[in-house]
Parts: sequence; structure tokens; C-alpha cells
Amino acid sequence: MRVRRCSALTIEPRERLELNLSLLSKGGNGLHSIVEQIAIAPHLGSEVLLTSDEVAVLCSLSPSRWTPWVDLAHARSVPVLEALLEKGLLVADGSAQCERDQRLRDTHWRTAAVTMHFASRWAGVDTEAAEREFLEVTEGTLLDRLGAAPPSVRERAPRDRRQALPATEPTPLDRLLGARVTCRNFDRSRSLSMSQFSATLYRTFGARVTNDYAPGVELLKKGVPSAGGLHPTEAYLLVQRIDGVVPGLYHYHPIDHALEPIRTMSVEETNALARTFVASQAYFVDAHVMVMPTSRFIRNFWKYRNHAKAYRALILDVGHLSQTLYLAATELGLAAFITAAVNEIDIENAFGLDPLEEGPLAVCGFGLRGPERNEVEFDPLNAVWPE
Ligand SMILES: Cc1cc2nc3c(=O)[nH]c(=O)nc-3n(C[C@H](O)[C@H](O)[C@H](O)COP(=O)(O)O)c2cc1C
Repeated sequence: MRVRRCSALTIEPRERLELNLSLLSKGGNGLHSIVEQIAIAPHLGSEVLLTSDEVAVLCSLSPSRWTPWVDLAHARSVPVLEALLEKGLLVADGSAQCERDQRLRDTHWRTAAVTMHFASRWAGVDTEAAEREFLEVTEGTLLDRLGAAPPSVRERAPRDRRQALPATEPTPLDRLLGARVTCRNFDRSRSLSMSQFSATLYRTFGARVTNDYAPGVELLKKGVPSAGGLHPTEAYLLVQRIDGVVPGLYHYHPIDHALEPIRTMSVEETNALARTFVASQAYFVDAHVMVMPTSRFIRNFWKYRNHAKAYRALILDVGHLSQTLYLAATELGLAAFITAAVNEIDIENAFGLDPLEEGPLAVCGFGLRGPERNEVEFDPLNAVWPE
């Protein structure tokens, strides 16, 4: 058997606080601090607790060179090596963990980026329950605890030293920007027309033309910019109420401007899934369609291999797409939202995505706004809601 260390590994010394009743009886807050060594190794999909001996051995092993087990067993503690093999951080040639580790290598992730990505994905998080719990265990509101925010602008010169710029002549773009308000009141009683749905998708995610940039390299030209012109962000859809589209899960084909069905389901099922996707933020659940902007790491990192900026570029791509979605929807009198508080792992499972190669970074959605403002929307211009 040959072994080597997994390719991406970050070890975090993390503090955990435990309530200790004997400490409490001696006075004080009763909290006992425990510092643990946590390995974040994305090829495993979950964190692993390590002993100090395991950390020491792990940090001395090569992630690139295969070493026969017998040679390693001569030089290092065998029980520690066996524990590391069992935990999947030491990888045996041909094992299932080796296959996952190889996939991570072949995707050309940078360790800091893949660590950040895997450390920030959620499964089954319920933000409403978390908020209720927070209110139960803390006194006062969140605002009481946080205190005043840093000022809205960091001023670098007194008013009399500022160079005033000419006022902007309003154009249709100003009116469009002014009318953009994140929607938290979708209309459950109506469905979105096919033409509104289709146009919003096309303007945001559709390719206007393709370009054979080089043999084997096709670029897409869209209404939004994208790092390297690669457009690695795909649109996965959860359709609830669109005329002419059966509720369910779809993938949008940006060149053919077509829906690829993944799974159809009842509206009750789509509703439950929508709630899971947005971590129980109830005010987004009734969006007529949710769009999961999903980064294909494997396409972006094909060019930007092990690159310090590549993951950041993917996040920026999603920002451009989201704003374009808002504007495309707003122009048609529709309503849109984006949220970063999402259960990425549940979304990946629903669509059958391998998180080492592709994954959602946010959830957007659009549809028809309801007649009543039951949930808060930030509309100080009264662009949507009368005063
Ligand atoms: C990256 C990003 C993440 C957001 N996440 C959430 C969220 O988790 N929940 C939510 O209700 N709104 C979310 N929003 C929407 C903001 O709350 C909203 O933009 C803000 O309140 C200003 O309102 P406006 O978009 O109508 O101007 C997010 C917006 C952005 C750009």
C-alpha cells in the first residue's frame, strides 16, 4: 500500500466552551474552555478532530509524494498513522478517499479558497429558529447588543473642502435603479407569465452569442461581465408558479435559452424545498421562481489554477448576475431578492451537484409582488409602497 497526505488541509485550533457545574458551584460563570485541533479537509466533506500527535505527524507528510506504508511505518508511530488513515487525512492509493482527493486536485482549488468555501456551507440551518433561540437567551434586541453602527460614510474631508459634482440628469436607468426594492412579499395567488419569466432569465443568464476562442475553449457573451469571459455561473431553478412550466427543479441552458428538467414535483414539495433552500426565511419561500447561481469551480479554475483571486472572482460574478436579475425583473414590474443565508448542502443534494466541482453561492428569486406589505421591505423612496 502507498500513502500520501491529502492535498488540501487546514488545521484550526478552535476554542469550545463547556458548562461545568462544579465550576459553577465554586462561583464564576461555570464555563470551561477547551481548545481542540480541527482539521478542515474538504475532500472528506466534514471536519475531523485531531490529537496533538496526529497534528505533528500530519504536518510532516508530503501531499505530493506517494510513500510505501512500510517505509512510513518505520519512521513514524504506527497507531498515529493508522488513526490518520482511518480519518481519511492520510490517503491510500486507490481508496475512496483517494478518489475524492484526486477530484479536488483535478479541480485546481487553492487551499485557502476551498477551506473558506467548505467552512461556510450550511445544511439544514433554520434561521428563524436560531433567531428565536437568540431572543430567548439574550436580553434586549440584537440592536441593543450591537450598539451604534459605524457611520454610513467615512468622510475624508470637511464639507467646505469637497469638490461638488454636477447633479445627474435623470434617465430611464435612474428610474429603474430607484424602483429596485428587495421583495419579501410575494403573491401566492397569482402565477408569473411565461414571457416575463423567460425574458428575466434570458437578460440575466442567457448567452447573446458564443465564441470559439481557441480549440476546445468556447466563451459566452452575456449581458454581464465575467472573469476571463468564462461565465462559470450556471442557473439552477426551483419553479413554483410559472404559467406553462410544471413545478420542480430545472437547469437553465444559457445558449439554447431552454429549461432542462431535473425533477418535477407538487407545489407543496417545491414550497418545502424552497423553505429549506433559504434556511427558513419565510418571506422568500413564495417567490414564483428561485434561481440558484451556481459556480462551476472546475471551469473557472481550469484557467485560474490554484490562483489567489479565482474564488473571489466567482463571488463577484454572482454579484453582477444578481443585480442584473433585479434590474431585469424590475423593468418588467416584477420583484426580486437575493440571500446569502442559504443551505448550500441541501441545494447541492437536490440538484445532484458535487461540491468539489460546482456549488451555489447564493439564492436569488423573482416573481409578482403581493398587494400587502406584511413583511419589511426597505423602500424609503416609496418606489413600491405608498407612504
Ligand atoms: C449579498 C447579499 C446578501 C443578502 N442576504 C439577505 C438575507 O440573507 N436575507 C434578507 O432578507 N435579505 C438579504 N439581502 C437583501 C438585503 O437585505 C437588501 O439588499 C437590503 O436590505 C437593502 O434593501 P434593497 O435591496 O431593497 O435596497 C442580501 C443582499 C445581498 C446583496
